[in-house]
Amino acid sequence: MDFESILQPTINQVNARLDQLLPPTTETPSVLHEAMRYSCLAPGKRLRPALTLICTQATGGDPKQALDAACAVEMIHCFSLIHDDLPGIDNDDLRRGMPTCHKKFGEAVAILAGDALFALAFEVLGNQQAETTVVVETMKILTRAVGTYGLVGGETIDVLSEGKPVDADTLELIHRRKTASLIAAACEIGSLLGSKQDARPKLKEYGECMGLAFQIADDFLNETGTPEQLGKAAGSDRDRQKATYPAIYGIDESRKKAFDLAEKAIQNIQGLVNQSILEGLAKYSVERLY
Ligand code: IPE
Ligand code: IPE
Ligand code: MG
Ligand code: MG
Repeated sequence: MDFESILQPTINQVNARLDQLLPPTTETPSVLHEAMRYSCLAPGKRLRPALTLICTQATGGDPKQALDAACAVEMIHCFSLIHDDLPGIDNDDLRRGMPTCHKKFGEAVAILAGDALFALAFEVLGNQQAETTVVVETMKILTRAVGTYGLVGGETIDVLSEGKPVDADTLELIHRRKTASLIAAACEIGSLLGSKQDARPKLKEYGECMGLAFQIADDFLNETGTPEQLGKAAGSDRDRQKATYPAIYGIDESRKKAFDLAEKAIQNIQGLVNQSILEGLAKYSVERLY
């Protein structure tokens, strides 16, 4: 059985809960809710929420307790994709094999759908049935991962670097912030909601390494893949003169760096309950074809 099939039951749980948590289209403003549901329920890989649930299990917890937090992480990811695709950022027309949110609903609704998903993520975290200190900690981890020291800061440096020469350190900083920070937060929140807290720093480091590897793979797939395979544009990074690993290191060296980082990720999870599935996810993040 391939790895995606192994994860399918977890993905189904996340999809069903997202459907419950997202606002209904029967409520006003229905177009906003349609746009939120359109982007968030579209067929993504659900890597981040899967990591949250698996890290809860890896630290001896019940993944059911982490389902809402996992959905909150996916909502933040979906917000980031909607805004990343906007004309002012990457100007992309295709996402998850479908027209991007702004192509389908217009730019104003897409911006607002991203904003509303961002807000809903924190509302969902706030409503968790857990000790208040734990709930607040999940919010702190996610806030830090999304703001200027994480995803939004990374997206800013990414956009400002277009068409400019970028050194290797800046490139790594962009990728760590725009992508690895949320993946690491998914792992850290999952481990916080488990029980064996001594594994938490290691799972965070696992997420940081696999997150960087995942973004390097995204870079080389943009060079080597097709829109049909990826469900999003190919060749667009080169067209926009983006700061990417292939642009600095070439495809082969980028691939090697990604595979080495996946191995580094794996070194952090030895002896945990879910070691083999976490190993599989780290490998999948670089071997994937889309
Ligand atoms: C796309 O992430 C954006 C990056 C950080 C590279 P994914 O490749 O996880 O996107 P979906 O969720 O499967 O659409
Ligand atoms: C990935 O951005 C990070 C975020 C969306 C925050 P990219 O621009 O590299 O990802 P894709 O290729 O559009 O999915
Ligand atoms: Mg981008
Ligand atoms: Mg993009």
